Amino acid sequence: MSDAMIQITNIKKHFYITEGFLFNKRKIAMKAVDDVSLTVQKGEIVGIVGESGSGKTTLARIILGLIKQTDGSVTINGTDMNRIGRNALKKMRRDIAVVFQDPASNLNPRITVEESIMRPMRIYGVPLKEAKIRAREVMEKVKLDACYLESYPHQLSGGQLQRIAVARALAVRPKIMILDEPTSALDISVQAQVLNLLLDLQEEYGLTYLVISHDLNVIRYVSDKIAVMYLGKIVENGPAEEVFLQPKHPYTVGLMAAVPIMNPRLRGTKVPLLGGETGSLIDATPGCRLVSRCIHVTEACRKISPELIEISKGHLTACHLYNEK
Ligand SMILES: Nc1ncnc2c1ncn2[C@@H]1O[C@H](COP(=O)(O)OP(=O)(O)OP(=O)(O)O)[C@@H](O)[C@H]1O
Ligand SMILES: [Mg+2]
Repeated sequence: MSDAMIQITNIKKHFYITEGFLFNKRKIAMKAVDDVSLTVQKGEIVGIVGESGSGKTTLARIILGLIKQTDGSVTINGTDMNRIGRNALKKMRRDIAVVFQDPASNLNPRITVEESIMRPMRIYGVPLKEAKIRAREVMEKVKLDACYLESYPHQLSGGQLQRIAVARALAVRPKIMILDEPTSALDISVQAQVLNLLLDLQEEYGLTYLVISHDLNVIRYVSDKIAVMYLGKIVENGPAEEVFLQPKHPYTVGLMAAVPIMNPRLRGTKVPLLGGETGSLIDATPGCRLVSRCIHVTEACRKISPELIEISKGHLTACHLYNEK
C-alpha cells in the first residue's frame, strides 16, 4: 500500500468570468489551477511556493473540499474523495485541519477563545466535558496559558491568535494540517516561534503538513519537499535543499535570485532577476506560461506546454531546456 497521505491528480480549477456586453457577452475560463498533480507522503512536510495569484490557496481549498475542482481527483489516505458517500466524506474531513493567514479572520470575534477552540470539536460530536479538557490540553501544547481561554480575539496579539488557530486545528486530532501562509501576518521573531511550534507539533503527532507561502525563507525552513507554482501550474517539484541550491526551472532560478542572502551559492554572483509581467490565467497560449519572462525561450516554448519530467531522483521540472537532453 502506498504511503501517500494526500494525492492530487490532474487537478484543474477553472473560474468562469463574463466578458463583453449584451450580444457580445462570452464566458471565459480562468485557469486558476491547471493540471496539477502532487503527492504528500505520511509525516512529510511539503511546501508550496509561488507568487500571488499562482493558485496556491485555490489548490488548498480543493483539498479541503471547500470548492469543487473542474477536473481531476483528490485522494486522502487512500480514499478518493469523489467516490465516497456524504457521511464517509464528513468523517474523512475531520482528518484535515486548516490554519489560514490572517489571525483575526481565523477566529470569530464575538466568541471567547474557549468557544472557538471547542466549536469544531462540538460539530464533530465531542461531548462538552471532553471538549473543555481538550481545549486546555491544546492550549498547553501551543504554550499559551489557560487563562486566555476566557479572552476575546481583540484582546490578543497576532502571534497569540495564530497559536490559538493552531490549537483549534489540533483539537480535532487531525492527520493532516494545511497551513496557508500561517506566519505571513506576523513579525519576524514571532514568525520563528510559530514555525518552531508547528515543527514540534508535527513531530510529536506525526502529522502531515502542506504549507503554503510566498516566503521562501519560511518554505525552506519547514519543508522536506517543495513544489513551485507559476500561473496555475507546478513548474518544479523536489527535495527542499536541492530545489533551493540547484533550482532548474528558469522561474525557480529567478525566485531564488530574488533572495540571494538565503542562498550562499548565489551570493556574489549575478543571476538575472525575472523581468516582465506575470502572464495571464486567461491567456490561451498553448506553450509555456513563462514565455514572456524567460531568457531561454525557443520556438517549442511558444507552441508546446512542457510536461514535468524527472531530472534527478524525485526532482521534477517542466521546462523544454531539459526535454531536449
Ligand atoms: N472564487 C473565485 N472566483 C474567481 N476567481 C478566483 C476565485 N478564487 C480565486 N480566483 C482567482 O484564481 C487565481 C488564483 O488565486 P489564489 O487565491 O489561489 O492564488 P494564491 O496563489 O493563493 O495567491 P496569494 O499568494 O495572493 O494568496 C487568482 O487569479 C484569483 O483571482
Ligand atoms: Mg493565497
